[in-house]
Amino acid sequence: MADATQGRTVAESQSETTHAILPRDSNVLGTLFGGKLMQFIDLVGAMAAIRHARTYVVTASMDHLDFVSPVRVGELLILKASVNRAFKTSMEVGVRAMVEDIREGTLRHVSTAYLTFVAMDASKQRVEVPPVVPETGHQKRRYDDALRRREMRAGETQRKRESRAGAPPVWSL
Ligand SMILES: CC(C)(COP(=O)(O)OP(=O)(O)OC[C@H]1O[C@@H](n2cnc3c(N)ncnc32)[C@H](O)[C@@H]1OP(=O)(O)O)[C@@H](O)C(=O)NCCC(=O)NCCS
Repeated sequence: MADATQGRTVAESQSETTHAILPRDSNVLGTLFGGKLMQFIDLVGAMAAIRHARTYVVTASMDHLDFVSPVRVGELLILKASVNRAFKTSMEVGVRAMVEDIREGTLRHVSTAYLTFVAMDASKQRVEVPPVVPETGHQKRRYDDALRRREMRAGETQRKRESRAGAPPVWSL
């Protein structure tokens, strides 16, 4: 296991969940609710971030999400999460959602998401996280891409903050 001051490998925190999709998870067309998929994505992403940071985390953002293909009741949904890169107190986590075709033994792509988690201690104070040590070619590409996405997010967050600054602090109903 890598020394935390030197960083942690991607493999050390990779996380996976499998969900059998039940009628209670579905809409009237018998396919998984988009919001339920977002919940599953958030949860598996948080697992990877917690394993990397070894402390509590909160979700700061989830980037744009496309639902590429529907997930039907009775299908098995598999989610895989990896910490792409750690910054100071935040980490970008990539989550890939797939459906397993049990008879064919193949996987169908459902969605890909990028989330940012911020590490916190028990007093809800932000804490620094160890760096990510990418090992494979894929991990190195994702590590580089994560910095580009962070720069785009920072611009977007700044624009939203400026727009909120002009809005009333409390909305009336
Ligand atoms: C996320 C949160 C901790 C950021 O706190 P903040 O005081 O705005 O902190 P800062 O602007 O100094 O940013 C702290 C870190 O978060 C990152 N960050 C903040 N807002 C972000 C956003 N919208 N998207 C991605 N990263 C973000 C910053 O880049 C920074 O990362 P770094 O330390 O690695 O450089 C705070 O907004 C919060 O607690 N939000 C609610 C979280 C929550 O409850 N999530 C569950 C959903 S209800």
